[in-house]
Amino acid sequence: MFPSKNPTTTQAWQQLQEHASRMKQVHMRDLFAGDAQRFDKLSLRFEDILFDYSKNLVTEETLGLLQELARECQAEAAIRAMFGAEKINATENRAVLHTALRNTSGKPVLLDGQDVMQDVNAVLQKMERYCKKIHSGELKGYTGKPIRYIVNIGIGGSDLGPVMVTEALRPYWIKDMQPYFVSNVDGTHIAETLKKVTPEETLFLVASKTFTTQETMTNANTARQWFLEQAKDEAHIALHFAALSTNEKAVKAFGINPENMFEFWDWVGGRYSLWSAIGLSIALTIGFDHFKALLEGAHAADRHFTETPFDRNIPVIMALIGLWYGNFFDAATEAILPYDQYMHRFAAYFQQGNMESNGKYVDRNGQPVSYNTGPIVWGEPGTNGQHAFYQLIHQGTRLIPCDFIAPAISHNPIGDHHVKLLSNFFAQTEALMNGKTPEEVRAELEKAGMTGDELAKLLPYKVFTGNRPTNSFLVKEITPRSLGSLIALYEHKIFIQGVIWNIYTFDQWGVELGKQLANKILPELQGDEKVSAHDASTNGLINAWKAMKV
Ligand code: F6P
Repeated sequence: MFPSKNPTTTQAWQQLQEHASRMKQVHMRDLFAGDAQRFDKLSLRFEDILFDYSKNLVTEETLGLLQELARECQAEAAIRAMFGAEKINATENRAVLHTALRNTSGKPVLLDGQDVMQDVNAVLQKMERYCKKIHSGELKGYTGKPIRYIVNIGIGGSDLGPVMVTEALRPYWIKDMQPYFVSNVDGTHIAETLKKVTPEETLFLVASKTFTTQETMTNANTARQWFLEQAKDEAHIALHFAALSTNEKAVKAFGINPENMFEFWDWVGGRYSLWSAIGLSIALTIGFDHFKALLEGAHAADRHFTETPFDRNIPVIMALIGLWYGNFFDAATEAILPYDQYMHRFAAYFQQGNMESNGKYVDRNGQPVSYNTGPIVWGEPGTNGQHAFYQLIHQGTRLIPCDFIAPAISHNPIGDHHVKLLSNFFAQTEALMNGKTPEEVRAELEKAGMTGDELAKLLPYKVFTGNRPTNSFLVKEITPRSLGSLIALYEHKIFIQGVIWNIYTFDQWGVELGKQLANKILPELQGDEKVSAHDASTNGLINAWKAMKV
């Protein structure tokens, strides 16, 4: 196991603090002006992905110090520990092996002396057979009609990955196959979905690692009831319900035939599970071969991560740059801005990936940390975001590092849409970096015929300080393989940051308290009596609701 080290006690951290105070006086414009090779030096290629990190407030010295920080925090040992199946998720006493799910190398992965790849490959083969049977029509619904609708019922990691990937890979959808995703316990979500499907043609995938999650089990029971109202016979459930879970006992208790259970294991974190049986909705939607290409892309990125020195290692550099702003510039958030409509859930996916992983304040020694950990992650596709929140990124008082992602080739090459989209993609990072000086604004206003007081009054509002950092990912085309790689790069970024922050990235105890309280409150909502067991606000709200609902 790698040691637990408070990163602020490293030499590199001290040096970075001094270095940061100097870098706060530097403008990126000058860094570009002073080095014609900056783009070549600070950009990397991995397969069809170009990663440009030159528009950051960093010099070679900054990057050297950040890499030194990673080394002092034993990042190399941590990578070996994760891939070596050590129980790095120590608060749950579990290994972290989502990378084994996409290990297409043929090499074994030993956990407690046992090769997990046999089980992994057996489930993959079962998924493949199932997909083929559904797609060929060999497996039909109870009236003999083919399955046309897939309804994945799951939440958090059992929802966001499949939603994000199926949306991002819409051009690969199998004809006549329509996926839906139900996550919210708000009855509206399942009710609206059931309006769009028929019981005879629908396959429900109950996706839950634990198979105990309230939202998922409630929605699954509602779906089951709805199905039986029409199908009448419980025997038909076997054709229309499958379970994606680690909990065989609970799956059986729900009434799903173990034949229709696709298993995964406790060493797969929920938010890292799209590569597992949780990805069945993806495989059914885009076909198993494309699902496999997604895994292969992720595996290729895993190899890049494990085999590349830190100064050329994309996820390590992503992690260090994020940490640079979070810890030395006090940036609280990061935006992910895909210039690809199909990737509209990418930021939401990594909102969970990042915030559930690194939203921790206790370090690996059980002590509260004295430094910032995980950022708030958010974002929307460009160009929509430009007309909504970019104002604050350009001229607000807060530093918001942004990742811009765009495909070079569009799946929908209609007229000049894509060049227009890309002109915005390139323009935004340029504008954020360069800004617009008072002199430039003055010249522009004078050219427009403005002078004197009028010009002086307007001028400060039109100045952009610039110097706002961005990473750009230019991906040749969003394919299953390139998407798989991109996701894996972001996953490893999160891991490296957690290692340096000395926190446990793979547990999520913070979500428990709300769940416990909701379970306590639920029976209180079912009676008419006034409640008084809580604080005055909670009592007041519950009692007001009881009065209001009648
Ligand atoms: O409440 C958080 C969480 O445990 C996530 O980590 C997880 O992805 C989600 O709930 C769903 O859990 P499950 O797959 O066990 O239903």
